[in-house]
Amino acid sequence: MKIIKISSDLSNTSSNYFSQARVFIDEAFGRGTLDRQTCDDAIHQWLIIDFDDDGNDVVVGYCSAEINQEGLLGILKTSVVHPSFRKSGIGDLTVKHRIKWLQEQNVQTIKSYAWFVDGVVPAQKMLMNNGFEPWGDIRGWWSGDHNWDYPCSICGEKCKCVARIFQYKD
Ligand SMILES: CC(C)(COP(=O)(O)OP(=O)(O)OC[C@H]1O[C@@H](n2cnc3c(N)ncnc32)[C@H](O)[C@@H]1OP(=O)(O)O)[C@@H](O)C(=O)NCCC(=O)NCCS
Repeated sequence: MKIIKISSDLSNTSSNYFSQARVFIDEAFGRGTLDRQTCDDAIHQWLIIDFDDDGNDVVVGYCSAEINQEGLLGILKTSVVHPSFRKSGIGDLTVKHRIKWLQEQNVQTIKSYAWFVDGVVPAQKMLMNNGFEPWGDIRGWWSGDHNWDYPCSICGEKCKCVARIFQYKD
């Protein structure tokens, strides 16, 4: 398995990787999620690549992070694992990888805004297993990210999803 960082000019990432990733990322969060994150210079992105039984490259996961507040605040933004590869430690790997990368960028604080969906926070365990503590919940956290063109996968154009805020305690 390898983790590749998508370069800002996209030169190191094949369109085949993007096509594979787009399907499961947009299915999880809503149409256009990958393309919007890719267009945002503040967002850093990684793809997790594995091999299928025939030895072909398969994109099994995606994650992103953002640095705000003049470099002081690092945010674990989006993590998605391809549905066929879940519950095998890839999500955990994406958390560890981004904590290390953000620490190398010398951020002082690391937070994550995790999705609360169908009564659970899917990312909660992988965050808490890696030193994050819950801080509080905010309803409609992503409302500004969604509209008719970019609907939320749950609420459509008016997103009311709840974010559970986590902070990293090292
Ligand atoms: C959340 C997600 C990234 C987890 O990826 P994963 O590769 O399956 O996670 P891991 O195998 O590394 O599991 C990490 C821990 O989380 C738990 N976990 C995994 N999926 C979970 C889920 N859907 N609900 C609750 N806990 C879950 C695992 O049991 C494991 O805990 P443990 O080691 O203490 O038993 C994946 O389910 C996913 O892509 N979901 C859809 C998108 C999403 O909700 N992303 C998070 C938004 S912030």
